[in-house]
Amino acid sequence: MNTCVVGLQWGDEGKGKIVDILAEKADIVVRYAGGANAGHTVVIGDKKFALHLLPSGSVRPGTKCVIANGVVLDPDCLTGEIDSLAKQGITLAGRLFISQNAHLVLDYHKTEDQLRESSLGAGKIGTTIRGIGPCYADKVGRSYAVRAADLTDLDTLKQKLNKIVAHKNKIFAALYKAEPMNADEIFNKCKVYADKLLPFITDTTQLLHNAISQKKSILFEGAQGTLLDLDHGTFPYVTSSNASSLGMSSGCGVPAKYVDKFIGIAKAYTTRVGEGPFPTELYNEIGSYIRERGHEYGTTTGRPRRCGWFDAVAVRYSVTIGGIDSIALMHLDTISGIEKIQICGAYRIGSEESVFFPCNIAQLAKAEPVYQTVDGWDDDLSQMKSFDDLPENAKRYVGLIEEFTGAPVSIVGVGPKRSQTITR
Ligand code: IMP
Repeated sequence: MNTCVVGLQWGDEGKGKIVDILAEKADIVVRYAGGANAGHTVVIGDKKFALHLLPSGSVRPGTKCVIANGVVLDPDCLTGEIDSLAKQGITLAGRLFISQNAHLVLDYHKTEDQLRESSLGAGKIGTTIRGIGPCYADKVGRSYAVRAADLTDLDTLKQKLNKIVAHKNKIFAALYKAEPMNADEIFNKCKVYADKLLPFITDTTQLLHNAISQKKSILFEGAQGTLLDLDHGTFPYVTSSNASSLGMSSGCGVPAKYVDKFIGIAKAYTTRVGEGPFPTELYNEIGSYIRERGHEYGTTTGRPRRCGWFDAVAVRYSVTIGGIDSIALMHLDTISGIEKIQICGAYRIGSEESVFFPCNIAQLAKAEPVYQTVDGWDDDLSQMKSFDDLPENAKRYVGLIEEFTGAPVSIVGVGPKRSQTITR
């Protein structure tokens, strides 16, 4: 059984926990897109692991982990994560595989992200400043790109970095009057990365196809969420990769026909970090209530997340384009204690009412949510073990989400721990 797990909103839906639960039965867990902009928190027993690049399965000693070609890999962050797991007694030797074709995020990418965002003022995207956009831009531009395989030939890499850094320095000086970066310093860091990472670098496409022919079970772990997809999200307020399930095939070289099930993760409400339209955003005390109860602060940047009602128009769109078979609805416990809960089932744009999500932001900015109001519940859901235990109003709310999004809710999250997960 091969499964792909993706976020259906603007990221931070709680994929880490579901991936971790599913990883128990998987032979291999694959990250196929994004980079250190992602942040999963995996809670096992009393231990909490905050990961940015390593697949969530990496904390399970028997699971193989793949960082595939679609990922932009920050070697500084990755070597830090490998070391920190080692300190907790978790070794990745012989079970972490990094694609030779994954592109490297180097210091000048992070500098460029920072310089560009600062120069844009109010027009900024609100990126995580992890160098994601600049690295993907170099990948598409080809001439100034560095891939993991380049760490195998340090002489050639040195020449390449001299050329790249000279080019970047001209641009940074002309556009931002920035201090020049030092190519030797970046190369010296790359030597250290090569030492640490070479044992893990391989042809992951071949590895995955071998695993498929041996009928191994593979879990494909998406990063961010469908609405942040470069092509299908709320451009330009998106990330620079195909964060929906559509990015899976190109991101790891495995066609979708080998995936048995696509699971979409959504929260029982909506959050967003960074800029961009958000039709159901709450600017009132209910928004703050959700933020505090749900600990809605970024794992990567610590930024407070914008919070709002569940947007079924957006999630239905993500379900449709992502071929989603079922939804894992997270954080249902967070919205306990709200007297009246609203759910957006359509948008009014001008005089028209529509149930199709416009991912053109000029239109989305004009969208007014058409809400259905349902009664909330006061009960503490955090210890509930089965769907039948949930209060009637919570069950009705989940039913409405299924009706509006067109996908069954097969998993309900009632707390951060793995044990606080109800499967139907
Ligand atoms: P970038 O991916 O750092 O370039 O940021 C682009 C947009 O995606 C910004 O709005 C970020 O806040 C958002 N973003 C990137 N990664 C995540 C994530 O893991 N969760 C939520 N939002 C994210």
